[in-house]
Amino acid sequence: MTSPGPSASDPAAPTTGSEWWRTAVIYQIYPRSFADSSGDGIGDLPGITSRLAELADLGVDAVWLSPFMTSPQKDAGYDVADYCDVDPLFGTLADADALIAEAHAHGIRVIVDLVPNHSSDQHRWFQEALAAEPGSAARARYLFREGRGENGELPPNNWESVFGGPAWTRITEPDGTPGPWYLHLFDATQPDFDWTNPEVHEEFRRILRFWLDRGVDGFRVDVAHGLVKADGLPDYLPPADSDSMGGGAVAAPYWAQDGVHEIYRDWHRVLAEYDGDRALCAEAWLPTPEKTALWVRPDEMHQAFNFPYLTTGWDAEKLRAVIDESLTAFGDVGAPATWVLSNHDVVRHASRLALTAENPQGHGLGPSSPGKPIPALGLQRARAATLLMLGLPGSAYLYQGEELGLPEVIELDDHVRQDPTWFRTGGERYGRDGCRVPIPWEAGAPAFGFSPSGASWLPQPDEWRDLARDAQRGDETSTLSLYRRMLAVRRAERLGGGTFTWLEAAEGVVAFRTGDVTVIANLGQTGIPLPAGEVLVASAPLAADGTLPADTAVWVRVAE
Ligand code: GLC
Repeated sequence: MTSPGPSASDPAAPTTGSEWWRTAVIYQIYPRSFADSSGDGIGDLPGITSRLAELADLGVDAVWLSPFMTSPQKDAGYDVADYCDVDPLFGTLADADALIAEAHAHGIRVIVDLVPNHSSDQHRWFQEALAAEPGSAARARYLFREGRGENGELPPNNWESVFGGPAWTRITEPDGTPGPWYLHLFDATQPDFDWTNPEVHEEFRRILRFWLDRGVDGFRVDVAHGLVKADGLPDYLPPADSDSMGGGAVAAPYWAQDGVHEIYRDWHRVLAEYDGDRALCAEAWLPTPEKTALWVRPDEMHQAFNFPYLTTGWDAEKLRAVIDESLTAFGDVGAPATWVLSNHDVVRHASRLALTAENPQGHGLGPSSPGKPIPALGLQRARAATLLMLGLPGSAYLYQGEELGLPEVIELDDHVRQDPTWFRTGGERYGRDGCRVPIPWEAGAPAFGFSPSGASWLPQPDEWRDLARDAQRGDETSTLSLYRRMLAVRRAERLGGGTFTWLEAAEGVVAFRTGDVTVIANLGQTGIPLPAGEVLVASAPLAADGTLPADTAVWVRVAE
C-alpha cells in the first residue's frame, strides 16, 4: 500500500481493535442550526433531543455537538466563557443531561466540543487578567506581551489572525494607561491560553472530567494543532497560498509544535480512567495524512479529522493517493483512518465539488464569488463522493443537512452575515455562514420545521422546501433515502472494519474491494461497465445499458 494507483495491491489488514470509534459514523450537530424548540430562531438542546429519533432512524452511531457552553457567541460558541455550563440560548445543564440520556437510549454516543486553545474574553480568567497587575498570576494564564516600538505601540510580533487582521490586541490598564498586548489566533474576543502554565493544564483536566462524569463518550478537540507556541513567539507570515485554518502552513510557530502531544498523552490518561472507550478526536489542520497521524499515536488521541481528504477535489488520481496515504499513515500508528467531506467551517460538499474556481476552505461563497457551482452537478457528485467515503475502512463524519443534499447558501445578504471572518476581512472573505443555515425538517411548517415561530437566525432559501426531511422521507430516489440505505448496508456489511484492496481501474475511476463489497466511483466523463453482481447501493440510477454513468458511485457484491 505504498504507491497509490490503479493496480491491485495486497489486502491491508482490517482496522484493529473493537472500540466503537474505529468504525463509527459520527453525525455533526451544529446546535444553533439544528432544531429550535424555544422559538427564538436559534437551535437548542431540547430541540436536538426531540429529533434524536430521526437520527437513530438515519442510522448514525454517534453525534458530535459543536459548542453549546456559556458563550457570548462572538464565534458561534467557539468563544467559551464557562466550560462547565450551558449557554441559556441552548438550555440548561439538565437539558444536556436529558440529551445525553436520550441519545444513549437510542444507542447513539455523544461527543462534545472542547475548545482549549482560547477562551472567550468574557471568561472569568480573562476578566481577572484584565483587572490584575502586569506580571501577575492571573495574566500568566494567557499570552500577554509588551508591544514593540518606542512606547509599545506596535504588536509584539507580526502574526495574523486566522480570521484576518493582526493576532494581537492591546489592552488598557485599569488606571487608563496603555498596557501590553494579548495573543488571539482567532477573533480579538478569543484570547489564547498560555499552555506553558500548569494551571491551564489542571483546569482542562477538570473540564474533561466534568463532562466525562456527565456521561459523554468523547471530545472533538478544537484547534488541536495550536495550543503550544514556539518559544519567543518569533515573527512569521504564512505563505500566500495557505488556507485559512493553517493547513498549508505547518512551519508556523503557532501550529503543530511538538509540545502539544504531551497534552494529549495526559488527556488520554484522563479518559482511560473511565469505562466505555471514551475518545478524543483532533481538529488539527495539517497538510498530509502522515503529519495528521502524529495526533493519533497509541497514547494520544483516538481519531483525527482527515482534512487532506476533505480538501482533495473531485479527481480520481488525487483521491486514490490521499486514500492510500491515509490508510498507510493511520494504519502505521494503529489508528483508524477517518473520512469527512463537510463541516461547519467549509463550503458544503454538494457545492464545493462542482466549483469552477479555487475556494480555500474558510473563505466561503457569496453573491460575488467567482466560479459558482452548478447545483445539480454538485449534488450528483456529492452523492457519489459520500458513497465512496462510506465504503472506506475507518470512521466517517457527516455534517447535519448533508443527508438532505443541502447546498451552500450563496445568496445571503451582507447584513445577515455573522461569521467574524466576514467582519475581520472587511467583507473580502464571505466566511462560513453559507454552510450554517438552519436545516429544513418539514416542507409545510414555519421555518421548514426548524423553529415553531418561523424565526431563523440565518434566512433559509425557499428552495429548501423541497429538501425538507419529510418531503424526502417517502421518496426512494431522495438523498435522505440514499443516506439511510448507505448507513444500513455499511452496518450490515461491516464496511468500516473491512479489509481493503485496490482494484485495477480505468483513468478517472476509483475502485477497491472492502470485505465482500466492491466500491466503484466514476469521476470520468463517460459511462463505464460494471462487473456482474448484485448492486447494493448506487448514488444515482445506472444507465439503461447497465453502465455506471459519470459522477456516480456504486457498491456491488460481485458474482464470484
Ligand atoms: C475551529 C472551529 C471553528 C472556530 C475556530 C476557532 O476551527 O471549527 O469553527 O471558528 O476553531 O475556535
